[in-house]
Amino acid sequence: MKTEPLLRVKGVYWHYEEGAQPALADIDLALYPGEVVGVVGPAAAGKTTLLLTMSGLIPSNYGGHFVGSVESKSEQGIVFQDPETQFIGLTVEEELAFSLENAGWSDERIEKRMAEVLDLIGLNGFANRSPLELSGGEKQRVAIASALSHNPQVLILDEPTSELDPVGAREVFSLLSRLKQEKEMTIVVSSHATEELAAFCDRMILIAEGKIVLDQPTRQFFAQVEVLDEHGTLVPDVIRLYHMLCQEGVMSASSDGVPLTVEELALHYKEGQLVREGSL
Ligand SMILES: Nc1ncnc2c1ncn2[C@@H]1O[C@H](COP(=O)(O)OP(=O)(O)O)[C@@H](O)[C@H]1O
Ligand SMILES: [Mg+2]
Repeated sequence: MKTEPLLRVKGVYWHYEEGAQPALADIDLALYPGEVVGVVGPAAAGKTTLLLTMSGLIPSNYGGHFVGSVESKSEQGIVFQDPETQFIGLTVEEELAFSLENAGWSDERIEKRMAEVLDLIGLNGFANRSPLELSGGEKQRVAIASALSHNPQVLILDEPTSELDPVGAREVFSLLSRLKQEKEMTIVVSSHATEELAAFCDRMILIAEGKIVLDQPTRQFFAQVEVLDEHGTLVPDVIRLYHMLCQEGVMSASSDGVPLTVEELALHYKEGQLVREGSL
């Protein structure tokens, strides 16, 4: 039996009230439990709008013209680009407790959940710190904790590392990897950090001018170098190198899709060498 999707976006068209043209058109997609999906596309392509639609904030919190449907069997937590703009609490504790208090949780239940969430994001002992005094990576981890406090099945992140330095970005992706592995969390993340996405995501979506151009498993997705180039998507160096080596005849293209990491590329090369030497 095929698993039911957690979320289904059907025939969605969305035009912001103030928008010059539709921000989304003909959007169809289903999100299955445990999937980790990367969303890429040039500036103004509709990435943020797509994530707002998946999270249910469009159309309810925005003015505009909406056609289609978003069916959700899950709760979604959303994290935005700039963590500071999301903070309302004076301490990490206040920040995490705020939405739970609003939802009418008891103090005891909030305290228990807060301890769980701080543990999950690796910020035990940070409860009384001001979120504004933390490093960029820590701030974004608090924002992730805040989104996770209600225990949503789906975590949606809009360019969560674009304001961070490389260390902070690594911190965030390593937390996301842990949530994927340990919690089997369903995650949707938009980013320009295609190297991290290639190593992290099971599936990738390319969006341009409000339409989905590609929606494929990551290995097949990154094999479409010409389409990615056409839409200004940064192709990770390791994948670019693999393509050049295939074109030069140094390597033969694999039917399983492209290698996504340096280690995979090296393995593919070694196997090819053994075949050429006749030992395989
Ligand atoms: N609140 C808004 N009102 C009007 N137009 C908007 C609004 N937000 C985004 N847009 C427009 O919608 C399109 C898609 O924007 P967005 O989803 O933010 O793209 P991306 O995240 O890929 O940069 C752009 O043309 C943008 O100018
Ligand atoms: Mg955006």
